[in-house]
Amino acid sequence: MILVTGGAGFIGANFVLDWLAAGDEPVINVDKLTYAGNIDSLHPHRYDLRHIFIQGDIGDRKLVSDLLQNYRPRAIVHFAAESHVDRSIHGPDDFIRTNILGTFHLLEAARIYWSGLPQPTHDGFRFLHVSTDEVFGSAAETDPPFAESARYQPNSPYSASKAASDHLVRAWHHTYGLPILITNCSNNYGPYQFPEKLIPLCIQNALAGKSLPIYGDGMQIRDWLYVKDHCSALRRVLQAGQPGETYNVGGWNEMANLDVVSTICQVLDELRPRPDGKSYTAQISFVKDRPGHDRRYAIDADKIRRELDWEPVETFDNAIRKTVGWYLDNKDWVENVTSGGYRNWMQQQYGT
Ligand code: NAD
Ligand code: DAU
Repeated sequence: MILVTGGAGFIGANFVLDWLAAGDEPVINVDKLTYAGNIDSLHPHRYDLRHIFIQGDIGDRKLVSDLLQNYRPRAIVHFAAESHVDRSIHGPDDFIRTNILGTFHLLEAARIYWSGLPQPTHDGFRFLHVSTDEVFGSAAETDPPFAESARYQPNSPYSASKAASDHLVRAWHHTYGLPILITNCSNNYGPYQFPEKLIPLCIQNALAGKSLPIYGDGMQIRDWLYVKDHCSALRRVLQAGQPGETYNVGGWNEMANLDVVSTICQVLDELRPRPDGKSYTAQISFVKDRPGHDRRYAIDADKIRRELDWEPVETFDNAIRKTVGWYLDNKDWVENVTSGGYRNWMQQQYGT
């Protein structure tokens, strides 16, 4: 079996769902269930003996050590993190606690467990750390996309905390030999994403007749990857990645935020036209920019294609339609996650 951290969050839940659909290997899922964690996302597996859910903190070393000793997984896939840049600007504490200290405790628990494993399980063990392209900082318009060798230049409390965790993971390999793998991925979108992030937020607001808040001029560029493609990349890295190596994961799909939001509006115009016949683009509203906003993220995902024969299968046009369709079909999920705490966040971040 494998142990997943943060498997009730957006990418973690998609990973667990895809993992259990692809085979019979059980998953232990350790998640603290912060505001971003949602057990409803794993509803199809509520009675599935292959899915063992434990509500817990990765910083609780005793809990994690006990789980490792009791279940003896062959790998850890580490998603758990505080992940929203805007929240890290308002309050970095949880980002330092979970992303840096939590990863440290998890690494120590993993190292001690791995040291005691007999052969050949010891050599086959893997610690896969799921990280972000934001650690490379902001690329200029004409810069080539970031390769794995690009310099770390994180700019936000979130990306700095992720960069720190990457360094810890790397050091645990270099110093102790822990067989780690690191992936640095670009912006994900798809089902089960908490509606604080750009794409689900705009779908939600559009349907609720609210404004679609674009920071600054909306010309910031992100590389967008469908979450199911990210999950398939992670399975591939776990299966064939070389211990100690880093792999960039990206969608080869750089887009300006304004184009992303306009595309969502076009899809909604088609699937759920506004009663007044106008386009949802009428709801677009330019708001104050994010402090320290990175202008462009661009990922060179050639290494994973060359060495592990992985590349994304989805196009943005196709997958954004699927994503919008999912939010239209899963109103209950959205309503469950947009209760009290969510409304407080919207008030704090966007005012009325
Ligand atoms: P998310 O915020 O949706 O989910 C994070 C999950 O971690 C939640 O279920 C939460 O309850 C859990 N968690 C938080 N603190 C915890 C703790 N101390 N102990 C145990 N569980 C805890 O995040 P996501 O978007 O699914 O991102 C998952 C990982 O992928 C993160 O490490 C993130 O940095 C990385 N990543 C995300 C993206 C993206 O576009 N979303 C892109 C690249 C990398
Ligand atoms: O690049 C990978 C990263 O992508 C992950 O590591 C992070 O966990 C994930 O949150 C995401 O970070 P971003 O800051 O790029 O994602 P977000 O959806 O918050 O914002 C995407 C872009 O849209 C960014 O340029 C900011 C802008 N934006 C965002 C929001 C929430 C707006 O213009 N308006 C908004 O209301």
